[in-house]
Amino acid sequence: MPSTAVMDDELASIPWFHRIDLGNGVTTPGIDDTATKLDQLRFPADLSGKTVLDVGAWDGFFSFEAERRGASRVVALDGGVWNAPQIGRRGFDYARRALDSGVEDVTMEVLEMTPGRPGVFDVVLFLGVLYHLPNPLAGLCQVAACTREQIILETHVDLLDIDRPAVAYYGADECANDPTNWCGPNQAALEAMLRTAGFTRIRTFPAVTDVHYSVAGAPRGTYGRIVVHAWK
Ligand SMILES: C[S@@+](CC[C@H](N)C(=O)[O-])C[C@H]1O[C@@H](n2cnc3c(N)ncnc32)[C@H](O)[C@@H]1O
Repeated sequence: MPSTAVMDDELASIPWFHRIDLGNGVTTPGIDDTATKLDQLRFPADLSGKTVLDVGAWDGFFSFEAERRGASRVVALDGGVWNAPQIGRRGFDYARRALDSGVEDVTMEVLEMTPGRPGVFDVVLFLGVLYHLPNPLAGLCQVAACTREQIILETHVDLLDIDRPAVAYYGADECANDPTNWCGPNQAALEAMLRTAGFTRIRTFPAVTDVHYSVAGAPRGTYGRIVVHAWK
């Protein structure tokens, strides 16, 4: 275990995404105020005895939170930033060590997921990942194959002014100037894709449309973020 001074230098050098309370007055300086999302996500207060998979875990805030809320096993999975040399898994590794956490890690792309690896989990967190997939339905089907009971999904949504299922497809960087944002389903499309992927009971919470980033050419109020809980 490195000395505290070395740990501090290391912490300061990490490009944190999540703000994680590591105890002793130290919170990681993430750009995302993640803790405020717990209520919005209706994050289960008690996960006792549940196995949890956190797909697209990044620094692992939600994985560590699931562990703190009693999950019997938590696996953090990422195949985006963990594979990017300039970011990697340094934040997750640092936080896991600092929290003395037993969260496991799997480096893997969504499209590589199977019931064999990473396995099948009672609860799957799929937060902020769907819109990063060029083929969202294919990704959702892989995630569903690894879900035993429930998925908690949070995503960017678009075309909210259309009642019929529709998916905005971004060919360049028109969504938040980020070329890794590929698509924005509307609520009807999201629910239809979840049914196609094998979920039978779907509870969608109202979309939040006062988001800080925009979709070029789209009127305000027609895009935003949405949370869905769905069960097999
Ligand atoms: C916007 S961040 C969300 C992080 C975290 N889930 C949250 O909600 O705060 C998207 C995460 O998904 C991961 N990701 C994106 N595409 C992925 C893919 N095809 N396979 C696995 N992980 C992916 C990224 O590396 C990143 O960690």
